[in-house]
Amino acid sequence: MKRTIETIQSMKPAGEKVVALTAYDYPTTRILNQAEVDIILVGDTLGMVVLGYESTTSVTMDDIVHHTRAVARGNRTCLLVADLPYRSYTSIDLAIANAQRLFEAGAEAVKLEGCHPEITQALVEHNLPVMGHIGLLPQTTDRFRVHGRRTKEAQEIFDQAGRLEKAGCFALVLEAITRPLATEITNSLAIPTIGIGAGVDCDGQILVLHDMLGLFDRFTPTFVKRYADLGKVISRAATTYRLEVQQGLFPHPDHTYK
Ligand code: KIV
Repeated sequence: MKRTIETIQSMKPAGEKVVALTAYDYPTTRILNQAEVDIILVGDTLGMVVLGYESTTSVTMDDIVHHTRAVARGNRTCLLVADLPYRSYTSIDLAIANAQRLFEAGAEAVKLEGCHPEITQALVEHNLPVMGHIGLLPQTTDRFRVHGRRTKEAQEIFDQAGRLEKAGCFALVLEAITRPLATEITNSLAIPTIGIGAGVDCDGQILVLHDMLGLFDRFTPTFVKRYADLGKVISRAATTYRLEVQQGLFPHPDHTYK
């Protein structure tokens, strides 16, 4: 079944958890379709886990457009959300133009970091659905820390959630905030919350695929569960291939035209 914004929103009242992962290419997208994931995010983590940039701030619109196209070619069932990268939504007009580029590339919604109700509302009014993202904001934070431990900050994040829902976000990512705050926000909103480091009470969860598959080891936040160690699997396969080529064991007659 193809997930749409409506199907994602209907999951909250039905008590069904929304399952989201990042993906940046065609083969992975096909695998995530088979795994019945609900949302694929072409996140700006692309910059760090695939392109080798130091941070997400180097990611360009061209980077996200290129990878959104690849994901769209493989996608049949997931809702495809693409990130508006750093500095691509510094004004309403720029945000609309850049979101339109992502939709032309195959995105069905865009995600933008921070509390920007005016920009969100303008995008929604142009039929460009928006997923919000509050809490830890990697595009503008220089250090990783949990948000919402202090009462004032918790209140600010809670207020931002309400403002973004009012502005028209169809869902909201909550990154690296305390579980009680995430629970309070989740209970107060009609739209689904998608947590990453925000505890189990969110309406759904998202992880960066390369973190959960063991393909990125520069750092691993506490909230990441490693579901596989593909880095080791690939390394073992490449080493075996190297040894077989060096020893003249590959190609075998089975892999040779007679
Ligand atoms: O870019 C990304 O992968 C994200 C996730 C951290 C949600 O925004």
